Amino acid sequence: MNIGIIGAGNVGGRLGKLWAAKGHSIIYGVRNPLTPKIQTIIAETEHNATAALVKVAAEKSDVVVLATPWEAIGEVVFQIVDVAGKILVDCTNPIEPNPEWPLSQGSSAAEEIAKRLPGFKVVKAFNSLGAGNLSDVTFGTVHADAFMCGDDADSKKIVAQLAKEIGFETIDVGGLRNAEMLESLAKLWITLAYQQGIGPNIAFKLLHR
Ligand SMILES: NC(=O)c1ccc[n+]([C@@H]2O[C@H](COP(=O)([O-])OP(=O)(O)OC[C@H]3O[C@@H](n4cnc5c(N)ncnc54)[C@H](OP(=O)(O)O)[C@@H]3O)[C@@H](O)[C@H]2O)c1
Repeated sequence: MNIGIIGAGNVGGRLGKLWAAKGHSIIYGVRNPLTPKIQTIIAETEHNATAALVKVAAEKSDVVVLATPWEAIGEVVFQIVDVAGKILVDCTNPIEPNPEWPLSQGSSAAEEIAKRLPGFKVVKAFNSLGAGNLSDVTFGTVHADAFMCGDDADSKKIVAQLAKEIGFETIDVGGLRNAEMLESLAKLWITLAYQQGIGPNIAFKLLHR
């Protein structure tokens, strides 16, 4: 699968390396593909990874992973608004308010993105655990859950498959209207890890009986 990753940082860089190792083609969508930082990430990703401007990366991909700060969302959306027919995996968390994109009570980053990118099938995923855990989502014998939601069932199946390939079990949280819950889950993760002093080596798991 061709996976475009917009934002090659903590989240995007890690996901790119993991999926490349599973045989996917990775194209990082960045502001300047030629910087030493991006060249290093490409070299570390191996397996035929490349980088391109954001729009080109989106156009060339089946799945576009959005992993930029929430503050950058307007700039990214402006560049890809004409692209259509792709799955967009939204990893963002609107921790810092973005004055250009105010979120009303009960709304979510993912729903706002879906409204402004009608050509994309948006799935919220990979936002509710610290990026450092992505490289190893196994805790003892337990696999962390990847919670995801979205309105298109087929897109969710594809994202669930990508999550399983890197070690997650997956939980379908329903339609995109539930994305706010996943964004709140990220706030809970941050509170536990950093304010309550538990540390970042944690992830959520749904227990079944
Ligand atoms: N860190 C976590 O543990 C974690 C976990 C789950 C979800 N998230 C969410 O995932 C998103 C990414 O977090 P992160 O920690 O990976 O951030 P990060 O390490 O700061 O990386 C962000 C990336 O986005 C790029 N970027 C910034 N503005 C851009 C623009 N206008 N166009 C294209 N690329 C742009 C940055 O490029 P430059 O290097 O050129 O600035 C950088 O590569 C955030 O929304 C965050 O809330 C983070």
